Amino acid sequence: MELLNLAVGASLVVMLVRTLYWHPRRNAQTAAAVRKERQRIAGELHDLVGSQIVNALLLLDSPANRLHPAVRTLEQCMLDLRLLVEVMSDQKGDLAEKLAALRYRIQPVLDKRGICLTWIMDVDDGEMLPRRAHARELCRLVQEAVSNVLQHSRATHLTIELRPRRESGCTEWLLRVMDNGVGMRQQPGEGVKGHGVSNMRRRARRVGARMSIVSEEGMGTEIVVIVDTMQFAPTVIAST
Ligand SMILES: Nc1ncnc2c1ncn2[C@@H]1O[C@H](COP(=O)(O)OP(=O)(O)OP(=O)(O)O)[C@@H](O)[C@H]1O
Ligand SMILES: [Mg+2]
Repeated sequence: MELLNLAVGASLVVMLVRTLYWHPRRNAQTAAAVRKERQRIAGELHDLVGSQIVNALLLLDSPANRLHPAVRTLEQCMLDLRLLVEVMSDQKGDLAEKLAALRYRIQPVLDKRGICLTWIMDVDDGEMLPRRAHARELCRLVQEAVSNVLQHSRATHLTIELRPRRESGCTEWLLRVMDNGVGMRQQPGEGVKGHGVSNMRRRARRVGARMSIVSEEGMGTEIVVIVDTMQFAPTVIAST
């Protein structure tokens, strides 16, 4: 009888431990399936929609059309599509790697527009760089800032910079996107219909960063994001 009680007790303990450590096994499978499906959609988008945009651009390709709004819109579509495909198919990499991929994508468009890019990446201490979801959010923020430079600034120079903030004892990163264009006509956020800037602020908030915009008519625009390295605990942002 005592043996039976012991056996029941032991199996109850095992069940309790299993209950405490139980997590739905389906999660890992679902995540893998979602990843695979994302990659498939990314491939389809790239091959089907991308090739149509390239064809349309070829049809309109002539020196006279270089600044035509339709050509500029198609170029922007192509850039957005490439970046979207990149985000959908690649979930890894730190912020410096993601920004390097972004640079590779935007360089041809900047060249076409005659915008000179100054690229400053002071990332020796790569250990402390934002990764995964943090890196993704910050890269998308820079992407929208660049998209705004292309759409609104009429700039001839663009600077993208990532460096540790030495003033803070290197516990923070400074991420900066600056152009020498026409500047914002109204104060950031004032009567603005677009979603880009508010999305940028939302992304900064999601990674616990502080974002500010310095812009004056005729004096260019500067987006500054201060990223606190203490925010990189893996649980701060749920991976999407
Ligand atoms: N680099 C910039 N230079 C000049 N003006 C800018 C710049 N960035 C933003 N703006 C101004 O700020 C406004 C708001 O930008 P936001 O990205 O929120 O909206 P949008 O670009 O107009 O639309 P959306 O991003 O939703 O497609 C722009 O319409 C533009 O007038
Ligand atoms: Mg915008």
